[in-house]
Amino acid sequence: MSRLDSAIRRLTSQKIALEWAARKATRMNGIILELGLGNGRTYDHLREILPNREIYVFEREIAAHPDCIPEENFQFLGDFRDSLPRAKKRLGANSVLAHLDIGTGEKQASQQLAEQIGPLVLGLMKRESIIVSDQELTAWSYLRIDPPLNIPKDRIFIYNLV
Ligand SMILES: C[S@@+](CC[C@H](N)C(=O)[O-])C[C@H]1O[C@@H](n2cnc3c(N)ncnc32)[C@H](O)[C@@H]1O
Repeated sequence: MSRLDSAIRRLTSQKIALEWAARKATRMNGIILELGLGNGRTYDHLREILPNREIYVFEREIAAHPDCIPEENFQFLGDFRDSLPRAKKRLGANSVLAHLDIGTGEKQASQQLAEQIGPLVLGLMKRESIIVSDQELTAWSYLRIDPPLNIPKDRIFIYNLV
């Protein structure tokens, strides 16, 4: 598969998964978390499909498209391992959807980061909330659910809190 095809598959899977999870999230009251603002593509999509919801973003350093930068009050800057505990103090466990898009291209390091921040993310989530992740979290295997049918296996990982 060419790198173009692979990029298209990844972005299409992300879009399908986020839209599927957003439909579930609309049935619950709570806030949305975007980990890995990057250039703001998925944040922009989330705010389009979940209008009127508070979306908090986490990013080491803002480098997004100028149209895709949330107000400062909705930014948690710095390393996830520092910003997530700060978020817990401010936001509590009130999130109904978290999107982890944290991969940096180094598979092992990204997976290790995901496993490290997993407990911190869980601390922010409400019961029955949904987490969509670009990394597998083996510690959450008991929470894993099948993704929507048209997503290739192991492309996106979806977890449903009980
Ligand atoms: C795949 S990109 C996000 C792409 C973005 N969701 C989009 O659609 O444009 C991953 C992002 O995670 C951020 N990131 C990776 N590790 C991080 C860490 N330990 N703390 C904070 N941000 C981190 C990187 O700076 C990068 O912008």
